[in-house]
Amino acid sequence: MKKEIILTGERPTGSLHIGHYAGALARRVEMQNSGNYETFVIIADAQGLTDNADNPEKVHDNVLQVACDNLAVGIDPAKSTMFIQSQIPELTELTFYYSNLVTVARLSRNPTVKSEIADKKEKFGASVPVGFFMYPVSQAADITAFDATVVPVGEDQMPVIEQTQEIVHKFNSVYGETLVMPKGIVNENENARRLPGTDGNSKMGKSLGNVINLGDSADDIAAKIKTMFTDPLHLRVEDPGHTANNPVFAYLSVFAQPEHFAAFLPEYKNYAELSAHYERGGLGDVKVKKFLNDVLQETLRPIRERREQLARDPGAVMEILRVGTIRARERAAATTDRVKKAMRLIYF
Ligand code: TRP
Repeated sequence: MKKEIILTGERPTGSLHIGHYAGALARRVEMQNSGNYETFVIIADAQGLTDNADNPEKVHDNVLQVACDNLAVGIDPAKSTMFIQSQIPELTELTFYYSNLVTVARLSRNPTVKSEIADKKEKFGASVPVGFFMYPVSQAADITAFDATVVPVGEDQMPVIEQTQEIVHKFNSVYGETLVMPKGIVNENENARRLPGTDGNSKMGKSLGNVINLGDSADDIAAKIKTMFTDPLHLRVEDPGHTANNPVFAYLSVFAQPEHFAAFLPEYKNYAELSAHYERGGLGDVKVKKFLNDVLQETLRPIRERREQLARDPGAVMEILRVGTIRARERAAATTDRVKKAMRLIYF
């Protein structure tokens, strides 16, 4: 049987954090290790520039950071192909051809584009760059170039995958069966796919200043947990607590494993018992936060250690990207060839 092909990745606009880990990276590594997929990991620097045109250094420098994050959590260059988007000119080429198959009206209605433009009102005002507006077209190029069948994304990115599906459908119906139809998948664990920020904001984001990064030191993690938002109505230990909209519990529900309970908080077997006690009253925030600290330290320590080791030899990480990019480019070039043949763009 032919293996499914995964394409997944991120814009290198900041180091990755536990929200990325819970929502995407942990699963990416699991899928890689299952042996059922051929995995491509894109570091989407060209897409990163669509809303950072004035900050090329930031995008450039974060390519290495995002590569280290992926390798530290377990992306294995012997099993997966990690590559840099901008170094594959065929992706830009495909973007231009596909842009003829999408209307301005359709992109304007794309919910992801709409909400991101609204989020960036301060930055863009009325002057939305064309490149940003059409990044879903570039993403369709990324996905189809590798004949990807499965695209794991955050749920906010689903409309971008639907846009890709429309482009594939349109291309194949106009030029003949050429492109592979992908499907988008989101993490089935709802808590994992939308981890809140440490301040209780429903979104964790670098620009919001409410993240725990994969590379954070043990002291940083401890300090961030100490000042973390919890239930503001839980004033005394005996008061009933609320676990909804409480990031301490959101994180525990995702990261606390039975082994953590056994090692650090043996009075409880699992998350259900702990949260029930908090809701009932009689369980203090200090104790819960101490447990969360133990859990996150245990989870992040090996990732941080691998990350530090990788960061000591940036040349070796760049070499992994160079080799991955060569391998990825071969695939993208083969698809582009197919596309150009279908579009009657071969002359010599
Ligand atoms: N849009 C993704 C992000 O915001 C990055 C990305 C670019 C991507 N091309 C992709 C993700 C193709 C999956 C497939 O991080």
